[in-house]
Amino acid sequence: MCGIVGYVGAQQANGRPLEVVMGGLKRLEYRGYDSAGVALVPQEGRALATAKKAGKLANLAAELEATPLPAATAAIGHTRWATHGAPTDVNAHPHLSEDGALAVIHNGIIENFAELRAELEAAGVTLTSETDTEVVAHLVAAAYATTPDLTEALRSVARRLHGTFTLLAVHVDAPDVVVGARHDSPLVVGLGDGENYLGSDVAAFIAHTREALELGQDQVVTITPTTVSVTDFDGNPVEARRFTVDWDAAAAEKGGFGSFMDKEIHDQPHAVADTLLGRTDTTGRLVLDDLRVDEAVLRQVDKIIVIACGTAAYAGQVAKYAIEHWCRIPVEVELAHEFRYRDPIVNSKTLVVAVSQSGETMDTLMAVRHAREQGATVLAIVNTHGSTIPRESDAVLYTHAGPEVAVASTKAFLAQITAAYLLGLYLAQLRGTKFPDEIAEMLDALRELPEKIQAVIDGAGHVREVARSMADVASVLFLGRHVGYPVAMEGALKLKELAYIHAEGFAAGELKHGPIALIEEGQAVFIIVPSPRGRDSLHSKVISNIQEIRARGARTLVIAEEGDSDVLPFADEVFYVPQTPVLLAPLVSVVPLQIFAMELATAKGLDVDQPRNLAKSVTVE
Ligand code: G6P
Repeated sequence: MCGIVGYVGAQQANGRPLEVVMGGLKRLEYRGYDSAGVALVPQEGRALATAKKAGKLANLAAELEATPLPAATAAIGHTRWATHGAPTDVNAHPHLSEDGALAVIHNGIIENFAELRAELEAAGVTLTSETDTEVVAHLVAAAYATTPDLTEALRSVARRLHGTFTLLAVHVDAPDVVVGARHDSPLVVGLGDGENYLGSDVAAFIAHTREALELGQDQVVTITPTTVSVTDFDGNPVEARRFTVDWDAAAAEKGGFGSFMDKEIHDQPHAVADTLLGRTDTTGRLVLDDLRVDEAVLRQVDKIIVIACGTAAYAGQVAKYAIEHWCRIPVEVELAHEFRYRDPIVNSKTLVVAVSQSGETMDTLMAVRHAREQGATVLAIVNTHGSTIPRESDAVLYTHAGPEVAVASTKAFLAQITAAYLLGLYLAQLRGTKFPDEIAEMLDALRELPEKIQAVIDGAGHVREVARSMADVASVLFLGRHVGYPVAMEGALKLKELAYIHAEGFAAGELKHGPIALIEEGQAVFIIVPSPRGRDSLHSKVISNIQEIRARGARTLVIAEEGDSDVLPFADEVFYVPQTPVLLAPLVSVVPLQIFAMELATAKGLDVDQPRNLAKSVTVE
């Protein structure tokens, strides 16, 4: 949550710092969008230039247009998802020292802010906002008054803070310096030519550079136009790992689509294809990206626990069916926040698979740490390079979905499922539970998926039309069985997130144990029908479920495999998807549901990229 950008570069004061920071904020707005602000450091002068505004970034941009800020050499910018204090102009970041010479922006929560605030008030400092962040500005100013070195001042304050934070600070005395500190919140460095960047994630600066540095926990970084120095909180120098971002800057643009969501839905064939690319070695064996764990350990694994939140957790639920089937290892799937606090049974034979688009979700990160403390091996399936979860895991399998900007996840979901399938096949290969030709056959089937997903997108006219006609609907239910069950839950989640409509996903078999009581005349129900070519009982049982709800007045919206005519007598609407092996079906069957939610929300006039109250990267627990 909260997006942070820092820039230093121009030797001569000019408009570039503001331009870079506003551009970065635009790309990070998915992290929070209830207010935004910037602080610029002039080359000379006694005060910083700042602007901050409640509401989306566009409000700040309008303010800057109306009242332009002077040229600068360095800048910081922030887009907020409120934790302490309402989203008002005053509570927006940056927060300043009393003399206006120092500015701070923050992502996270300072848990001991109340006592720090009391300490400052006792010392006669006047605080103007309700935020936890403002205390940091005053504390750093006080430390700076004693030791006028911004890095040391921030470092000394960082040592006193409890909670989670990424902090950036600038000071008028240091026009070509931005200092950052991180503890359990994300921060990466972008390396430019005569200019350097800081960002909550690489999206902040990929328009300018793909060269980046990963920072570890409890580190402080100081950037100037030509130098980057990193230390721990005690001031000991630290070597940061350099990496190259493989995202194309254009991939973070709308590319002619009306919304990022629409664009990202259209990106899905590529996201799956790219995630599959280059996964086999010269002998045809599957390989992982970064494996810091002995294969012997993976051979001994007797239980897998997938931990994730939101859409990523549904990807994990899909993976469970495939991994158990292919590897014969029991797989549990658990929401990361529930896993972390229930004293889970985990040991050195447990493989924990952490699934996360951002690689920063705090609940998932905390669960990763807990699992490793208990001796488990942790493998991360993550989309964002330079993020914290892969850094703290034993092995990584990157999804290659490219930057996902819309808050509600689409292409990352398909890429996560694809990566989890690769993991399942990798383990099956390693443990010999599938013959090499069976694995090759499944990989071939996976490679056919991008084309099939494209066919669903190209043929989505009907689902778009139905969605538009349902803009007034009050509630939609989703039923699925086997791998269709997590798809049903994901379909419901998309509708809640985007269209603010009550929606629930159920296991179709559970229908008669309660949910059927919700069925009344006209109740819309999506049913994800399994392939008739799979285990026949599954298909016919779901067909029976459709009849049961139709008999009670439901309006049935059926997702079925091409050629399945059994559904026709009981479906008010049918959305066909191409034939796939049963376990791979979610990669096609979820797509009409994503399009349905997007189209319905658009028909209601809602912003599908930035739904109310949500943030893409949830970096507080
Ligand atoms: C938020 C987003 C969801 C996402 C979830 C997990 O709730 O709005 O779209 O699925 O976080 O995020 P992650 O980055 O860990 O996949």
